[in-house]
Amino acid sequence: MKSLNKVELHLHLEGAAPPGFIRGLAAEKQQDMGDIFDDRGNYSYDGFNDFLRAYEAATSVLATPSDYARLLSEVLNECGEQGAIYVELFVSPEFCGGADLSAWRDYLAAMEEVANAYALSGVESRAIATCIRHFGPDRAKKTALCAAETAGGWVAGLGLAGAEDLGAPGDFAWAYDCAREAELGLTAHAGEWRGPESIRAALELGVTRIGHGIRAIEDPALVRDLADQGITLEVCPGSNIALGIVPDWRDHPIARLADAGVRVTISTDDPPFFRTSLAHEYEMLAETFGWSETEFQQMNLWALDAAFCDNVTRDRLK
Ligand code: ADE
Ligand code: ZN
Repeated sequence: MKSLNKVELHLHLEGAAPPGFIRGLAAEKQQDMGDIFDDRGNYSYDGFNDFLRAYEAATSVLATPSDYARLLSEVLNECGEQGAIYVELFVSPEFCGGADLSAWRDYLAAMEEVANAYALSGVESRAIATCIRHFGPDRAKKTALCAAETAGGWVAGLGLAGAEDLGAPGDFAWAYDCAREAELGLTAHAGEWRGPESIRAALELGVTRIGHGIRAIEDPALVRDLADQGITLEVCPGSNIALGIVPDWRDHPIARLADAGVRVTISTDDPPFFRTSLAHEYEMLAETFGWSETEFQQMNLWALDAAFCDNVTRDRLK
């Protein structure tokens, strides 16, 4: 499946860091990484909260604009290997200098240089400035201000990630209003750890996309609303299975959502944490649901329609 051209809308930059990259950087800085790796050198965690802890511990090694530029280069290189022609990356100003505007500009300048180089070689990308739910609404305001001040270049959207059970989407309304005024695209994680009510609350923020959103399947009326409104779901099946939200590929609701007319798209979330890759997700979906290039092409066209950037042409997916 590597050769099929793909669009990936939901990839966390820090969550895409190969464990070897984080270990190498930690060694350079003589920083102890504690217990985030297993005996084989893979990321190790026990459940979602512990995943967030390991994720943030790995992220603590990324302390300068140049660290982020090096990481982005690794990640975009891998995206290209997986057949991605367009990628949207969640990048948090919180992790890039504590949501301080001048620091964020420095991090962005370093990352944009890398992104521009990869765009020339065929992997276009954009950043979604990401509020971290469990850091709370006040810090999210600072993130939204960073996003609004830098909107229009590589920064194309605002997102909300982190612990879904801490804080309702409505608590982040100020951040979303600020981003909308700056004409940024809007998405939010919802319906991953919490049910349909969390997705409805995220829709109130004015998002056009939902990160995950798979628990919409529990509410047929919501499924109809998502289909009717053309809301795009950024579905990450391997992530849902690795984190235990869905027991197995067969049980994953992506096919039922697609059959109900919902615009589903395929992403990896944090691939090394979940021992997956974009091509692997496609292979597992093909094996499980009998999907062929026809179905995947439709999903990639939906992804392009929902992208927060319009300079990738549809004929690149043919
Ligand atoms: N941050 C990184 N991966 C995430 C996920 N799957 N859910 C919420 N926040 C995240
Ligand atoms: Zn995510």
